[in-house]
Amino acid sequence: MRVLGIETTCDETAAAIVEMRPDGTGVILSDEVISQIAAHAAYGGVVPEIAARAHVEVLDSLIVRAFGKAGLAPQQIDAVAAAAGPGLIGGVLVGLMAGKGFALAAEKPFVAVNHLEAHALVARLVARVNFPYLLLLASGGHTQILAVRGVGDYRRLGATMDDAIGEAFDKVAKMLGLPYPGGPAVEAAARDGDPGRFALPRPMMGRPNADFSLSGLKTATRLTAERAAPLKTRDIADLCASFQAAVVDVVVDRMRVALGLFAKESGSARAIVIAGGVASNGAIREALARFCAQAGLPLVAPPPRLCTDNGAMIAWAGLERLRIRPIDDLGAPARPRWPLDLSAERAPNGKA
Ligand code: KG4
Ligand code: ZN
Repeated sequence: MRVLGIETTCDETAAAIVEMRPDGTGVILSDEVISQIAAHAAYGGVVPEIAARAHVEVLDSLIVRAFGKAGLAPQQIDAVAAAAGPGLIGGVLVGLMAGKGFALAAEKPFVAVNHLEAHALVARLVARVNFPYLLLLASGGHTQILAVRGVGDYRRLGATMDDAIGEAFDKVAKMLGLPYPGGPAVEAAARDGDPGRFALPRPMMGRPNADFSLSGLKTATRLTAERAAPLKTRDIADLCASFQAAVVDVVVDRMRVALGLFAKESGSARAIVIAGGVASNGAIREALARFCAQAGLPLVAPPPRLCTDNGAMIAWAGLERLRIRPIDDLGAPARPRWPLDLSAERAPNGKA
């Protein structure tokens, strides 16, 4: 079975074709992404209206490119999947309508995919990961820890009460004069820095719940930067390294607590999985690899290209759903909010 996946919820326009083999493994036939980073860089963050217009401009040609790279004609796929949320509503509408239109014209079923579910399941496209697993989903808009118990069966164990981790990286980069998006810039600067030079707080560490709070750390970083001004390259490197070290400590502590909560509610985890743009951070990956080794669990970290927003994860989530039952979601609405765990209260930061 082959599915076209379309992603337009934030600042990446993406289209991919993924095949699921009879044994349930996946193969990416094409995976096209156009990043809008340059269009938003001057504003230091994503401007929703600019994002929606940029999606409209490139999506059609990107879908054509995805078919070209896969060497397939439109009739050679079995379904179309598009992210129907959560995300910026203008962009979501662009991808959702394009997907529905394509599905109608090609007379294929349409699957409305939850963008967070796509992040949550993409590990199964690249590795044989069985349910249930513990997932850290950390991007620019979301930071949650989930028990992934099956397709459509998610239990939220923790979430951020204020900023998402990626958002905190972006804001720290901005205050230090580093480019957007901040995550890769802060990580690169941190490589030459001394993580022990500035003592920054580790918010929530030691708490019995698995929630996060990043805004106090962000403010502490800003105050420390102001005290150290004027900042030389070395100061910026040391600040980035100190900030990243604090985030790493918090992430490992929160995952340790979450693993305990997981065991109480969902039995023993088969693996620990990380996803979302922040999962491409080398320091976080290394620290979680050490934690997993201690816990005796495999760490599954998809390659960075599948951690940031992409079309392959949308196609894969569509395939995972279609494998369970036939779907045709032509009436599905665009959803700015769409929590994965409907029983959990709204995310403390209102973003999930
Ligand atoms: O998943 P994603 O591509 O888009 C969203 O759905 O938000 O994640 C983008 C976020 C940005 O905030 C970016 O700064 C962060 O992920 N990010 C990183 C790294 N690469 C991307 N954060 C820390 N370290 C990185 N290497
Ligand atoms: Zn995302």
